[in-house]
Amino acid sequence: MEGYKRFLSFLAFSTVFGFAAVLFVLVWVLLWREGLGWDGGAPEFNWHPVLAVSGFIFIQGIAIIVYRLPWTWRCSKRLMKCIHAGLNTVAFILMSISLVAVFDFHNAKNIPNMYSLHSWIGLAAVILYSLQLFIGFLVYLLPFSPAFLRSALLPVHTYSGILIFGTVIAAALMGITEKLIFSLKAASGIIPYSKSPPEAIFVNTLGVLIFLFGAFIFWMVTRPEWKRPPEQDFMTQQSAGKKPDVTEDESTATDHSMDDLSDVELHSEMSARKQNQKLDEAGQRSTM
Ligand code: HEM
Repeated sequence: MEGYKRFLSFLAFSTVFGFAAVLFVLVWVLLWREGLGWDGGAPEFNWHPVLAVSGFIFIQGIAIIVYRLPWTWRCSKRLMKCIHAGLNTVAFILMSISLVAVFDFHNAKNIPNMYSLHSWIGLAAVILYSLQLFIGFLVYLLPFSPAFLRSALLPVHTYSGILIFGTVIAAALMGITEKLIFSLKAASGIIPYSKSPPEAIFVNTLGVLIFLFGAFIFWMVTRPEWKRPPEQDFMTQQSAGKKPDVTEDESTATDHSMDDLSDVELHSEMSARKQNQKLDEAGQRSTM
């Protein structure tokens, strides 16, 4: 892999920022916001940011870059698709529980639903995510979907995946700001947000960590040289005893063709190519 060390440092930074964000959101609700519970009160609301950050941001981010981890390139594409889909499904389930918590809390406290920009953008992201998951499952995991559909849809799938991830990060930053403004209102004994109490500094830092995690994931997922090599090239390089690597040309040119075939299709495609090669060679010999 080109720039392997650079890839590893990006991976290390993104993982540290992601873990730190999950830790910060837990410390926030446990230390400053009455902890976690399921009672219709503040502890129930607190599941909303905790599961949104750990599930919808951290796990989704990892799911996005899982194909790019070079030590997974020996695994079949099908297995990697299952891991990618599995992580995204876990993220979706956690986010769904997080939404149940916030709606339940609002209903218990008679607070209106879906009035803020955060809730509009957030719900839009969840709906798009569920569509992305459903279509991705139908097109890329079910064996009978045609190869042309899979390759035609891949640019859309990739674009919408990155768009949704960005939207989720924007929604989280809005949610965090909103919550700080609601909770840190000037009242007796409360230092207002504008006076930067320790909670505000801590939670602003949480926002910065989420932003950095997203920024690193974006960079890693948009580098063509860090893309999983097309399976047949990888296997050919291996059988020739070469260290597998991928060039920019390969990753962009073959990006949406062989790369996305299932193992069975890939095998038959390769056999057909070998057959054609033999026929070509035989033809050349007979004309010599
Ligand atoms: C990142 C993914 C997130 C999504 C998709 C999301 C989505 C939503 C949705 C749909 C609602 C509306 C619930 C209702 O009206 O009953 C909501 C409410 C809320 N969320 Fe989030 N949220 C996310 C993250 C966060 C985070 C990290 C916080 C930080 C505390 C947060 C704070 C809030 C607050 C304070 C409300 C209630 C006020 C309002 O409706 O805007 N959210 N969220």
